Amino acid sequence: MWSIISILVCLIIVSASTLLLRGRRHNRKHPPGPPGWPLFGNMFDLGTMPHRTLTELRNKYGDVLWLKFGARNTMAILSTKAATEFFKNHDLSFADRTITETMRAHDYCKGSLALAPYGSFWRVLRRIVTVEMLVNKRINETASVRRKCVDNMLSWVEKEAAARQGDAAAHGVEVGRFVFLTSFNLLGNLMLSRDLLDPEAEDTGEFFGAVLKLMQWSGHGNMADFFPWLRWLDPQGLRRKMDRDLGKALEIASRFVRERVDQDNKFVSDDKEKEKKKDFLDVLLEFQGNGKDEPSKISEKNINIFILEIFLAGSETTSSTIEWAMTELLCNPESLNKAKAELTEVVGPNKRVEETDIENLPYLRAVVKEAMRLHPPIPLLVPRRAIEDTNFQGYHIPKNTKVLINVWAIGRDPDVWDEPWSFKPERFLGSKIDYKGHNYEFIPFGAGRRMCAGVPLAQRMLHLILGSLLHHFDWQLGANVCKEKMDMKDKLGITMRKAEPLLAVPKRST
Ligand code: HEM
Repeated sequence: MWSIISILVCLIIVSASTLLLRGRRHNRKHPPGPPGWPLFGNMFDLGTMPHRTLTELRNKYGDVLWLKFGARNTMAILSTKAATEFFKNHDLSFADRTITETMRAHDYCKGSLALAPYGSFWRVLRRIVTVEMLVNKRINETASVRRKCVDNMLSWVEKEAAARQGDAAAHGVEVGRFVFLTSFNLLGNLMLSRDLLDPEAEDTGEFFGAVLKLMQWSGHGNMADFFPWLRWLDPQGLRRKMDRDLGKALEIASRFVRERVDQDNKFVSDDKEKEKKKDFLDVLLEFQGNGKDEPSKISEKNINIFILEIFLAGSETTSSTIEWAMTELLCNPESLNKAKAELTEVVGPNKRVEETDIENLPYLRAVVKEAMRLHPPIPLLVPRRAIEDTNFQGYHIPKNTKVLINVWAIGRDPDVWDEPWSFKPERFLGSKIDYKGHNYEFIPFGAGRRMCAGVPLAQRMLHLILGSLLHHFDWQLGANVCKEKMDMKDKLGITMRKAEPLLAVPKRST
């Protein structure tokens, strides 16, 4: 009799506590957000420019938003205040990344620094990049490589402009295309000591072609990311295409590595010469190992992935920033004249801009910052993922929630920025606000543990390329464009680019 009573009591206690727990869980609030559709959630609410739509939603729901994309919980951060709370107090709880289906091809996400889970492998790679590779000393040693690539760019632009006659000349050149090819070639020279493409050739090279395709497939919205049970079906064929083209790109990268190892074996004796000419691949090969029982080493496959990653992370981001900076300057002639006058005074007429000039060019630096405030190339950062259940500003954020940090909205935060929609580089003159991840109102490179690992290199590239284009040429908008009617729309792929490429006419500065 007593045993039946005790079983009944136990059952009552277990059911009561389950109900209580469920009730509590139910009461745990998520941030506010638009209601969404059954099954699909908010999938159709954000359109093709989610950074813009989310910015508008802030007016209705506030600066921390809750969304459902199919089965995936998502939180969006839309203000400086919320970003400050996120990075200051919760960076570690959200230090993982969300992995998209295309990035699972060939286990790319497992070898990638940008996508690796927060842990020992990520730490090893991050250390190699920030302590061995992209440190000022090594970057300074490679200044001549960047100089050569930028000189090439200037003569390509000059030749292209000279080859055009009549209407075609007045139409202008596609500034972004030259800058993209230059950034790609520059990274190829830093990483592998080789020119990977010739912009004048019809065929721009198989490696470049393969990397372009990876950018295309990974920048596409994929149904399989919203409904994981659709993965096996691969409804848009994106995984299949990524498998094919990533396989090809990895194959080419591994050929580059093999050639280097063979070459090194031939010239082992000339150590001094090698030390002088060390490129990023040499640094990487010093850490090659099987990666399993040598946790501080990287496997051969992950070295190939790393090579691709540098191109994916560094080429479009830089060229998009420069295309936007040129667009804004051409629409704001007063700022353009100030930037050119500063270059003439500091660098001198008929002289080349050098990296050592950058620190004496405050207006140019302000132009780059202002372009990044208005047009951050990765407007929602690389999405984070909650490692654990977290209480964020009183809201319950369950483990695995995807987090979008809208730096496009934060750069226009009306609580922080005066005339937030206007291009005014002057706002950064004499201001301490920088993009190093401490001023949360301006974080185009992100912040916290997962902040961009390439900032020291990116800032050299941005100022050198933009400064050289401005100093070497006088620019005018193409014949069919006027500043009042300039199309300022953007499109979001792997980065946010100008939807209509900028066309401008260069004339050699006198
Ligand atoms: C204008 C140029 C660039 C911009 C705007 C940019 C922006 C970003 C952003 C927003 C992130 C994510 C940060 C976060 O989640 O908080 C990121 C990550 C990263 N970037 Fe950049 N980037 C640029 C250039 C470069 C370059 C040149 C390289 C390398 C050569 C690079 C390498 C990386 C890497 C490896 C990561 C992943 C870091 C991690 O997850 O630990 N980036 N970048």
